[in-house]
Order: sequence, then C-alpha cells, then structure tokens
Amino acid sequence: MAEITTNIDLIAEALRQGKLAAIPTETVYGLAGNALDVNAVAAIFEAKQRPSFDPLIMHLASAEAVSDYVTDFPAPLRALADAIWPGPLTLLLPRRALVPDLVTSGLERVAVRVPGHPLALGLLQSLDFPLAAPSANPFGYISPTLAEHVQAQLGDRIPLILDGGACSVGIESTIVGMEEGMGDSEPCVYRLGGLSVSEIENIIGPVTVKAHSSSQPAAPGSLEQHYAPGTAFLLDDTGTLAERLQQQGKYIAALRFQAALPAIDATAQRVLSLKGDLREAAARLFAAMRELDALGADTIVAEPLPEEGLGLAINDRLRRAAAQRTDC
Ligand code: TXA
Ligand code: MG
Repeated sequence: MAEITTNIDLIAEALRQGKLAAIPTETVYGLAGNALDVNAVAAIFEAKQRPSFDPLIMHLASAEAVSDYVTDFPAPLRALADAIWPGPLTLLLPRRALVPDLVTSGLERVAVRVPGHPLALGLLQSLDFPLAAPSANPFGYISPTLAEHVQAQLGDRIPLILDGGACSVGIESTIVGMEEGMGDSEPCVYRLGGLSVSEIENIIGPVTVKAHSSSQPAAPGSLEQHYAPGTAFLLDDTGTLAERLQQQGKYIAALRFQAALPAIDATAQRVLSLKGDLREAAARLFAAMRELDALGADTIVAEPLPEEGLGLAINDRLRRAAAQRTDC
C-alpha cells in the first residue's frame, strides 16, 4: 500500500529522486512525476496501464513558468490563463524541444496547467521542474477525488499519496487550444471540464467546442468508454428505467441530481445536489459513482443533468460511463 501523507517536503524529495506520487488538485487527483525525466514519465504510463499514445498534462507553478516550455502564447489563451489560473483550465501550446516526446506523445503542442489546490501549488513552487500528471486512476476508470480512491486503485503500484482532502471542483480541467481555421486560428474547447464554456466565453468571447470528435482526438480523454465504473451503467429517465429493471428482479442503484427516487432504497442512491447546484454536483460526481459501483448492484441508473454550465461536462462524463465498453 502507498503511504498517505500531508508532508509536502517528503513528496518533493521523492519526486526529485525520480519517484512517483499521487497529488491532489482542485479538479481530481493526479499521478505525478518529473515531466523532464523520461524514466519518471514512463513509470506513470506503467502504473496507469495507459496506452502510450495518450499525452500528459504538464503542471507548473505559474503562467510565467510556461514560457520556458512553449514557443508561443496566443493572446486569447494568455487572457484565459490570466483570468483562471491557478484553476481548472489546461491550455494546448506549441512546445519547445526540451519537453520530452513521451509527455506530448510526439504531438506539436504540450498541455500545460497551473492547478488551484494549495498543496499542489506549494509542491510545484518547491520544485525546479514541472510535473507530468494524468488523473490518478487506472486507464479507463473514473478519476479519483479523494486520497482513498487513489489508494484503492493504485496503492500497490505507487509509493506515496499526498492527501489534500476532497477535490473542490471534482471533474477534470477544461482543455482549450487554438484551432486552425480558414487562414487564421481561433480558440477551441477540446475537453469539457471544470471550467464551463460560458465562463470561457465571458472572458474571451465565442469559442468552438470540439469535445466530441473521436477519430484521432486532439484530447484522447474524449474517447468513449473513458469514465466507466465496473457496474452496468444506464443514462436515461431513472424512474422509467428503475421500474422496468425492478420488474425483472434486478438490484438497482440510482444516481440522481436533486432528489432520491421513492421506488429505490435510499442507501442505494446518491443525490448530487439537493439545492440543484451544478458545482456541488460536479464536486460529488465521481465519489458518488464509486460508492454506487461498490454496492454490487446489477445496474446503476443515472439521470442526465440540465444541459447548461457545468451540466454539459457532467453529462459528458455520464455518457462516457454509459457507453458500451469494448476494450476491457
Ligand atoms: O484536471 C485535470 O486535467 C487532471 C489533473 C490531474 O490535472 N488531469 C487529467 O489528465 O485529467 P489526464 O491525463 O487524465 O487527461 C488529460 C487529457 C487527455 O485526454 C490527453 O489526451 C489530453 O489531456 N492531452 C494531454 N496533452 C495533450 C496534447 N499535447 N495535445 C492534445 N491533448 C492532450
Ligand atoms: Mg484521465
């Protein structure tokens, strides 16, 4: 099992020695290693059992530090960074040669982000290298939002977990880059996440959203089947689904937005936000999915949330959880 600690110095020393550590961010826990040390980066892929074509986000202490690793910082993206970092935003920027190919999977752009969690920021400030960190889950599973989630799934493969409590945002960062258009380029959202499209548009004006392109995705987190729990997972009207499945004698668990379903035992349900707050729902989403997954039910039924603000990113994760798994 991994050692769970709140000691940043211990974690920093391990990272300096090329070891891995799971670290909290405001979005989800990441599995971190020195981004400039290819052995550490390779160990991340190994621990996650992640296909090596999937590139990693480089975490930095500040927007200023980014210029060491990129050749250009287009004005709209810089404006977003200034407004949001530290926060749930990842930017795709043209890389410098010192960024290892293993981090970008050989792509021309590197993903960079300044995380908002105080422990992650404190750690990055104490290091003289950036941290490559994918979400700290085995490939294809739900991202962890508690140190215990990491321990349960990767504890036998990594030495250390920095415990920063529950992640306040709860879903992964929003990924934005410049997309070449007809003669010029414009900002484009590649992954819906903890920063909503409307918040982005309030800062830099209209953006395109390409979060669902699946062939050769710019952000492979957009692949289907990516956030799947182990239990069968259905996304639709939960009342109708529950009635039908209960008639078949199935043991049903339910994931609901604001209120539990009367027809199902309360212990087999998770309500994401009694007051209908999408931020609160996002922060609880992955922990609720894990708890329902652990019940050993035949099927989890989930209802879609309102298609607005963070509801778009939450529904995106729910759709992926419900997508038929074909690769595992
Ligand atoms: O909130 C987050 O972003 C968390 C925390 C730990 O920072 N990290 C995270 O990493 O979600 P990961 O590896 O699970 O998802 C990162 C996504 C992947 O879909 C990856 O393909 C995409 O970002 N990505 C990374 N580098 C890229 C690049 N150079 N070009 C395009 N997509 C990239
Ligand atoms: Mg991930």
